[in-house]
Parts: sequence; C-alpha cells; structure tokens
Amino acid sequence: MAIQSSRVVVLISGSGSNLQALIDGQQAGNLPINIVAVISNRPDVYGLTRAAQADIPTVLLDHKAFANREAFDQQLTQVIDEYSPDLVVLAGFMRILTPQFTQHYLGRMLNIHPSLLPKFQGLHTHQRALDENETRHGVTVHFVTAELDGGPSAIQASVPIIDGDDASSLAKRVQRQEHIIYPLAVKWFAEGRLAMKENRAYLDNELLPEHGYLIESHEH
Ligand code: GRF
Repeated sequence: MAIQSSRVVVLISGSGSNLQALIDGQQAGNLPINIVAVISNRPDVYGLTRAAQADIPTVLLDHKAFANREAFDQQLTQVIDEYSPDLVVLAGFMRILTPQFTQHYLGRMLNIHPSLLPKFQGLHTHQRALDENETRHGVTVHFVTAELDGGPSAIQASVPIIDGDDASSLAKRVQRQEHIIYPLAVKWFAEGRLAMKENRAYLDNELLPEHGYLIESHEH
C-alpha cells in the first residue's frame, strides 16, 4: 500500500538552504512529502526563488504591514491553514511566535536551531559557542512550543570545533548537518514515526532522550 504523502508548509525568512534540502529529498523520492506552499515574511529572499524554481506556490506575508505580532500571526495562521498542512516546518523563519500560534500547531510544527539545545537559545549561536570555548557545537530539530527554542528535541547533530574556527567556518560545518537532520526529522514525522506527546518527543513510540536522537559528526 502506498503511503500518502504528508502536506508540508515551509516558513522561511532567508536563503532557504534547509528548504532546498527538503525540496531535493522530495524530488529524489526520498521523502514522502508534498511541499504545498512556502511562506516568507521577507520579500526578495532567495528561498522564494528556490520555491518558484521547484514550482511550489509561494506567499509573501510581510510582517511590517501588520500593527502587531498578534495580527501578523493570526493572518499567517489563516494563510497556512488554507493549505491544510499535516506539518509546518520553520526553516530559518526569524520570528518570535505568539502562544496562540504555537498552540494552534502544537505537535505538528518543527523548527531547526543552530546549537546543541538547551545550550545557546536565541541568536549568534556560533560565535557564542566559540566565546564559551566549547569543544563541540551543532544543531537541533525540535517541536515548537510556546517557549522560544525550547520545545522537545527530535534530533541533534554535533560537530567538532576546530582550532582556527571562526563563526563562519563553524556555521558551514553545522549547516552541512542541518541539511541531513532536517529532512530526516521530516521523513520520520511524515512516516508517522516521530510524534510529540505531553511535551516529550517520541520515535517509534519510544521516548527520546532530552537532546533527541543524537548524531555525532567528526567531519572537519
Ligand atoms: C539556519 O542556520 C538555521 O539553523 C537557522 O537559520 C538558518 C537558516 O538557513 N534557524 P537557510 O535559510 O535554511 O539557508
């Protein structure tokens, strides 16, 4: 019996390299998903071009046109729900979300954050990992809850920090892992293997550890 593909809406604010990894996975037949829309809160970002090139419908919803966060999130909810997604994927979507928004998509919205959560929530994670003399750094895919960068982790990939690294070289090493673990988490969700229950993440009905499924890369 063929598995029906999951309807996925992807939210972006920038270059969309994580979006591209999902598009590539879908096109290669590796992901049982159908990306039904890409929504950006910023005009002229490369992620919109990537979506258009893949014939995916795009929506620009500029947050600057709204009086406040609540009004923007309400409109965003309406736009997303027109596409009846099974899963909402935040892929470099640089917005703080209202509790109403996160509640509406609870258990069916994922985010990617470039740190080994719970370390380094918020911005400038690569520089902060270097400043703290960490020996490893990485990226986390997690379910989105009302707590910023705080929902239960599904999967985490760690990379070494190497002598001579700066924020940019470290970001590149982390991004290579992003493009592996985000499609993997989305695949698990689409296959019904990954779920959130009572604020914890489960894979194949087994409670995942606090940091999620762990991949340790030794790539330099
Ligand atoms: C990624 O580094 C992601 O971890 C962070 O924003 C960046 C998005 O990159 N949340 P892209 O737009 O997917 O290229």
